[in-house]
Amino acid sequence: MIITIASFKGGVGKTTTALHLAQYLGKRRGSGKVVLLDGDPNRSALSWYERGQQKAGFSVLDGDEKPSAFNHLVIDTPARTDPTELLPLAAASDLLIIPSEISIFSLEATIATVGVLQSLSDDRYRILLTMLPTRGIKRETGARDALREAKLMVFDTGIKDRAVYQDAALEGLPVGELKGSAAATAWNDYQALGKEIWKDWGTK
Ligand SMILES: Nc1ncnc2c1ncn2[C@@H]1O[C@H](COP(=O)(O)OP(=O)(O)OP(=O)(O)O)[C@@H](O)[C@H]1O
Ligand SMILES: [Mg+2]
Repeated sequence: MIITIASFKGGVGKTTTALHLAQYLGKRRGSGKVVLLDGDPNRSALSWYERGQQKAGFSVLDGDEKPSAFNHLVIDTPARTDPTELLPLAAASDLLIIPSEISIFSLEATIATVGVLQSLSDDRYRILLTMLPTRGIKRETGARDALREAKLMVFDTGIKDRAVYQDAALEGLPVGELKGSAAATAWNDYQALGKEIWKDWGTK
């Protein structure tokens, strides 16, 4: 399976999502070899991986390298993707994931691309709501309603706003490798996302 992660706005959790999905797939029994391709010139996934002395269950390649022999490939992309680049990215992947915060600016940026997204078939892409408030679901429900109205496909799983991701980034580890209940709760979000993906795309 090839998963590409792209967004129209920077800092929405692309790299964090790429790393945790690669970790989920790497840990999943029978999923085979997992490679994360760091397509961002800032190489933030690569430096995260190197900080953690490669304790992860997957390998990370510089975006200029050509990945060979993988069962699953997760591709992280630079801060902002031009909407016109989305179609080729989606065509080259089994699944295009578009992380989006629920701030009005982030949602508007996503909804503005509705024409491009609707030209993709429903099984080709999903919007992933990230940095969701940990308390109260009113804002999340409002965002989901707006996206549904625009007929956009959204993952049931959302990723909550949790400070532990910063600690994990500093240590160069996925949150699931940190101690404590905050880390375990954060890892649960990405495990739920991994399961949702595996259910529909795992055989690709
Ligand atoms: N769910 C979350 N809760 C809290 N902080 C988060 C969450 N996801 C990511 N972060 C933090 O937000 C910042 C941006 O995340 P990340 O680097 O994953 O975004 P990005 O979309 O890859 O950014 P860029 O567009 O610059 O590549 C990082 O400091 C990260 O640790
Ligand atoms: Mg990034």
